[in-house]
Amino acid sequence: MAFNIAIDGPAGAGKSTIAKKAAEALSYIYVDTGAMYRAMALYFLRKGIAADDEASVNAACEEITVSISMENGEQQVFLNGENVNGLIRTEEVGKMTSATSIYRKVREKLTDLQRSMAQTTDLIMDGRDIGTSVLPKAQVKIYLTASVETRGKRRFLELQEKGIDCSLETICADIAKRDEQDMNREISPLRQAEDAVLIDSSDMSIQEVTEKILKLVRERR
Ligand code: DC
Repeated sequence: MAFNIAIDGPAGAGKSTIAKKAAEALSYIYVDTGAMYRAMALYFLRKGIAADDEASVNAACEEITVSISMENGEQQVFLNGENVNGLIRTEEVGKMTSATSIYRKVREKLTDLQRSMAQTTDLIMDGRDIGTSVLPKAQVKIYLTASVETRGKRRFLELQEKGIDCSLETICADIAKRDEQDMNREISPLRQAEDAVLIDSSDMSIQEVTEKILKLVRERR
């Protein structure tokens, strides 16, 4: 049976950075499920569909195929065969993703794909509902979080480094809104699974969090 590690938590908690590092140390595949939701959101944006128009989102779901592949250890996500990795990290796509991942049709489309990958492959999968819904039997479950202020500051520094002008206040407000949306949706909301280990990374380094996860994996493998 494949060994599965589920990492859930709010935006900006450091899930992908840490999951990547842990996957590398374990020689496991890292699956970023947010990227799949982002690819679907990109399609809705391109089609000019409004986030609150569920009927149009549902119809568009029939036209979409999302797939992923690994290239040099990096996940590439494909939307109807087009590699959209470079197009899905914008704020616009992020907002559309949070708003459209509430719909059943969108979630069902991706959950099947995620489950089938985990059946045969040792992997670390991160997202919002991996431990609670996608892989309820994952051998290790982590709920990784950090305060809004910490996550806001991290994002602020990231954007500043890229030379993008922004205000810390706006970033924190956006993060709080995203949390609200992800935690309060009806289907598969973001929450800590009962058997997940809570890690608050507010005062921890990337290395410390990664070590903690690797220790848990060693104990359970
Ligand atoms: O992890 P991320 O920032 O790339 O995720 C973008 C959005 O996708 C997030 O606001 C909620 C949604 N998402 C989800 O609903 N379920 C997942 N498993 C992963 C992401």
